[in-house]
Amino acid sequence: MNELQDLYREVILDHNRSPRNFGELDDADRIVEGVNPLCGDKMTLYLKLDGDKVEDVRFTGTGCAISVASSSLMTERIKGATTTESLELFERIHDMLAAPDFDVATANADLEKLAALSGVREYPTRVKCASLAWHALKNALTGSEAKVTTE
Ligand code: FES
Repeated sequence: MNELQDLYREVILDHNRSPRNFGELDDADRIVEGVNPLCGDKMTLYLKLDGDKVEDVRFTGTGCAISVASSSLMTERIKGATTTESLELFERIHDMLAAPDFDVATANADLEKLAALSGVREYPTRVKCASLAWHALKNALTGSEAKVTTE
């Protein structure tokens, strides 16, 4: 288990050090802002759709390592996915982060690098850090440009 935790930690650190898809997207179809009032950290998600596909996705903002890594991992995973696949992934990650009966050991195989976020389950305040980007994604996918807050 320690080896796995080390791997997860390395994924988080890597995505925090070198966030993927960081920056604004000039021709975004949807822009959603997210804030974590606990710490004041903010992120903005930019989504460009091509029909039912996520053609491009980028983000900006400041946050802790978990929040930046979560945004980075999310954008990496959903670029090129359909909106339906992306919403299903939102539900999976939501369960992974917060559902009491989610079985981390058996359910994580196909989540690949995203499984690195499962470590925050033990820390309720960190769950908010990890889930901010995903709630912004859900709003962007469903056409709601309402600001997202973790409270
Ligand atoms: Fe602010 Fe994690 S401490 S988003």
